[in-house]
Amino acid sequence: MKNYLSLLLLLVSFWGIAQPKNTDRRIAKPSIGQRVDELLAKMTLEEKVGQLNQYSGDNTVTGPLTINPNKTEEIKQGKIGSMINILGSEYTRQYQDLAMQSRLKIPLLFGLDVVHGYKTTFPIPLAEAASWDLPAIELAARVAARESAASGIHWTFAPMVDISRDPRWGRVMEGAGEDTYLGSKIAYARVKGFQGDKLGDLNSVMACAKHFLAYGAAIGGRDYNSVDISKRALWETYLPPFKAALDAGAATFMNSFNDINGIPATANKHIQRDILKGQWNFTGFIVSDWGSIGEMVNHGYNADKKEAAQAAINAGSDMDMESNSYRENLVQLVREGKVSESVVDDAVRRVLHKKFELGLFDDPYRYSDAKRQQKELNNPENTKAARDMAAKSIVLLKNEQHILPLSKNTKTIGFIGPMVKLKRANHGFWAVDLKDVDSTYIVSQWEGLQQKVGKNTKLLYAKGCGINDTSKAGFQEAIDVANQSDVIVLSVGEKHDMSGEAKSRSNIQLPGVQEDLIKELQKTGKPIVVLINAGRPLVFNWTADNMPAILYTWWLGSEAGNAIADVLFGDYNPSGKLPMTFPRTEGQIPIYYNYLSTGRPAKNENDKIYVSAYIDLQNSPKFPFGYGLSYTTFGYSALKLSKTSIAKKEKLEVSLSVTNTGKVAGEEVVQLYLKDRVASIVRPVKELKDFQKIKLEPGQSKTVVFTIDNEKLSFYDNDLAFISEPGTFDVMVGSSSEDIRLRGQFELSE
Ligand code: GLC
Repeated sequence: MKNYLSLLLLLVSFWGIAQPKNTDRRIAKPSIGQRVDELLAKMTLEEKVGQLNQYSGDNTVTGPLTINPNKTEEIKQGKIGSMINILGSEYTRQYQDLAMQSRLKIPLLFGLDVVHGYKTTFPIPLAEAASWDLPAIELAARVAARESAASGIHWTFAPMVDISRDPRWGRVMEGAGEDTYLGSKIAYARVKGFQGDKLGDLNSVMACAKHFLAYGAAIGGRDYNSVDISKRALWETYLPPFKAALDAGAATFMNSFNDINGIPATANKHIQRDILKGQWNFTGFIVSDWGSIGEMVNHGYNADKKEAAQAAINAGSDMDMESNSYRENLVQLVREGKVSESVVDDAVRRVLHKKFELGLFDDPYRYSDAKRQQKELNNPENTKAARDMAAKSIVLLKNEQHILPLSKNTKTIGFIGPMVKLKRANHGFWAVDLKDVDSTYIVSQWEGLQQKVGKNTKLLYAKGCGINDTSKAGFQEAIDVANQSDVIVLSVGEKHDMSGEAKSRSNIQLPGVQEDLIKELQKTGKPIVVLINAGRPLVFNWTADNMPAILYTWWLGSEAGNAIADVLFGDYNPSGKLPMTFPRTEGQIPIYYNYLSTGRPAKNENDKIYVSAYIDLQNSPKFPFGYGLSYTTFGYSALKLSKTSIAKKEKLEVSLSVTNTGKVAGEEVVQLYLKDRVASIVRPVKELKDFQKIKLEPGQSKTVVFTIDNEKLSFYDNDLAFISEPGTFDVMVGSSSEDIRLRGQFELSE
């Protein structure tokens, strides 16, 4: 007995020595992953599927609404995981209260299309892209995040990062234009703006990179239409902005309505599981676009919504927005063994992980804060950011006889056109329409000029005509105003809801009789400045050829009037550059700057003999990608390449000097284009590979340096390998894709 006791004592003392001294009595907090697993283990299959259901509130809808009268009851039963279009600290609290009555009290996620502002509204994203100002673009998303996160929103369905080369497609207004490099840089900036450095910060919301994938390549520019595209083109043109969004930490992705080569994105295992969740190791979750799971029946991909639910969840679509497919079928599909519960568990884990990251299990109401909302919405700091972004988004297309900037001593200005006094329209298509939308805070173009001009300037107004009707009854009043004026500012364009979702146009001319009005006003002989408001490139050839001054003002948000006035009177020197090519006619579409040479390239503008051209049109766009003028001018000189040849592992520096050769300060977007002369996959005639936006005082020069590495020289081959090949590269630096000021070349060796 005694020996046992001594052995026991020995063991106990040894055990005491072997164990680390747990001096710290506190227990380590479980990781989010552990908390997710612990919660998942408690959940019934119905509750798991509940987390994968998302519905819209009834007050604001952004798609064909499914009427589900039991929504609130189902939230209490834990059968709905997320609501969209529920906004405001009070309204979101009410809905969160319902979720807190469920058995496991799993908080709801509130999502909303905060695409370019919540209350303070910024220019439409395509306009922001025209600024090429990445810090300003990031700040715009930051302001949108601050305002929406104070208003109960956890998640914005933005940025839309779809590349598109077809202005007939109404959703070009929502993206960053035609170029993959610019689009990738902007995607990164927007995600960083929305999410900040860490989710859970009360000034951040989850971003959602959309629409995955290639939605902007819809055949014919017709929304929701099919996409027929090579895998190589997907990797070269459409995937990089999504990868940039992922690199910036995008918490969620949204898949797209379109099919890709006959397989709807929603059920496309290759893009969702192989690429996004596999190769790219995406750990967030994928939400379907509005109803798109159920719409696979319309596609003819599934016979019914049960099959669609099975295809979608197995392909990696984690959450079902508004189609009822998961709500009605997923439990059954698991019970029938057609969907493994582990697939559901993976989707639920991804959703729950984000709810934990947002801190919603610690405090489900932390984002619904009436005081913070009051402080944040449309505060002066946010308004200033919006005005700054709007001014930077404006593109000066023409300025003959230096009509612009207008003098603040102009005696009489005739401000004419159907857009002059509009308020809400300045927000464009994808704006958050707050129930209490007190559009008084939106500065109309008329108000902007009123607040700008001095008491010695008389401002006259005439509408002139409608936007999209045939009446010329208002012409005479406009002509009378013009005859009393020293200068005319004419604000025309397409209606704000003629671009956006389901707003494809076969004819992208200035609608109605607006161009007839311009022709009538030209007869007065007065100097005319034309403002064109639109969510896409329009065709306006007569105006472009016959008007001396044109500003493309897109839809500039709640500070539109102030920003337009700032530019008209030179308080801001326009610096915008077109993020999309402007065609001469719809017949040229798709038209973009980084086209392939073909075997018979046209030698010049009018070459038509046995070359790739239209016999009835010049061989160029009306306005090229990267184009935009300034009130000053810039000289480019002293191009230097650090080497005349480099190996793949080396870098090359391209430097040049840019001088402000005019009389006023201004900003220039210096653009670097490269061309790989000969390659195993023919390369575009030029590709944007870098840019810098610089500010210069009159007479000031700056040295701009670009670094070229192997990545900038690489492309995807048909095996989808990302490769570069030895050979000669052309270097082109310019003020637009067609205004190349300096050229050089270098050799790449192995
Ligand atoms: C819409 C849009 C998508 C949006 C969603 C929620 O149909 O395609 O971009 O985020 O539904 O409003």
